[in-house]
Amino acid sequence: QPNAVIHKLNLTKGYTIEVRGIIDHDANRFAIELGKDADNVIIHFNPRFDYSVDKNIIICNSKHNNVWGSEQKEPAFPFQKGSETMIAFEFQNDIRVKLPDGRQFTFPLRVPEDVIQFLALYSFHIRSISIHF
Ligand code: GAL
Repeated sequence: QPNAVIHKLNLTKGYTIEVRGIIDHDANRFAIELGKDADNVIIHFNPRFDYSVDKNIIICNSKHNNVWGSEQKEPAFPFQKGSETMIAFEFQNDIRVKLPDGRQFTFPLRVPEDVIQFLALYSFHIRSISIHF
């Protein structure tokens, strides 16, 4: 279950959304999702401290009509349980993810959506959200 959800964000391509918050102190992973709704997720951004076979790695995936796509793994891992972090997502013809240490990577737009309406946070406690073009 998410601990926060926003609907009707209405973000078109060109926008960046920057999410700042605290990772749960006892999280084995946390997640930030952006998409159309809970069943149609453009990006599931899921840093895993220790979950399944994954240790200190970021898993990204998409979900289309409630079915997961294939995982993209990023070895960067600038996160600590219980501490504040900030991740930015730039919505273009892909999603450019900007990590708190300055590293960046992209994730393809697999779900054909022109607008991001939905944000969900898991094991993550929001401090601020900012949006800029
Ligand atoms: C699953 C996990 C989901 C999601 C998905 C991403 O194993 O249960 O919560 O992280 O991987 O591919």
